[in-house]
Amino acid sequence: MDRRAFLKHAALGAAAAGVARTVTAAEMYFPVKADQSLFVTINRAKDPAKKNPLEQKHVPVIRTPAKVKAGEPFTVEVSVGEVIHPMGPTHWIEFVELNVGNEPAGRADFQPRGFLNPKVTFTVVIPKDAAPAGKVTLIARQRCNLHGYWEGKADVAVT
Ligand SMILES: [Fe+2]
Repeated sequence: MDRRAFLKHAALGAAAAGVARTVTAAEMYFPVKADQSLFVTINRAKDPAKKNPLEQKHVPVIRTPAKVKAGEPFTVEVSVGEVIHPMGPTHWIEFVELNVGNEPAGRADFQPRGFLNPKVTFTVVIPKDAAPAGKVTLIARQRCNLHGYWEGKADVAVT
């Protein structure tokens, strides 16, 4: 191989390696394997009594007393999900949020380092005037970087 051919091949090889490295980085930050249809709406369990494996890992599970007293604090635990969701640099839960009815109550953000399980405990107080019908619906939502936005609900009687 003469010098000119060697330089030509070396330049093409370097360019190809640069493109390959760029694709790898793009896939790392914007995974092409993500199902884009999961990002267009809020996802819910189609049949809560019979969740599929994706729903088992992503529908937030709310643990709360079924009945509480107005004005008194109680504990609400939200976990993602029935089967705890993995937490790592390429696939993680970005946040968990809790609403009381339509009102946002709180939110916890997670880092993709794997130090935390996606499980949060909130201390909630429902004022009497927030539950005129004697009940509220707690709505937990979470966002997975690969599988979109998911919602779970639980009704609580307020006396
Ligand atoms: Fe996920």
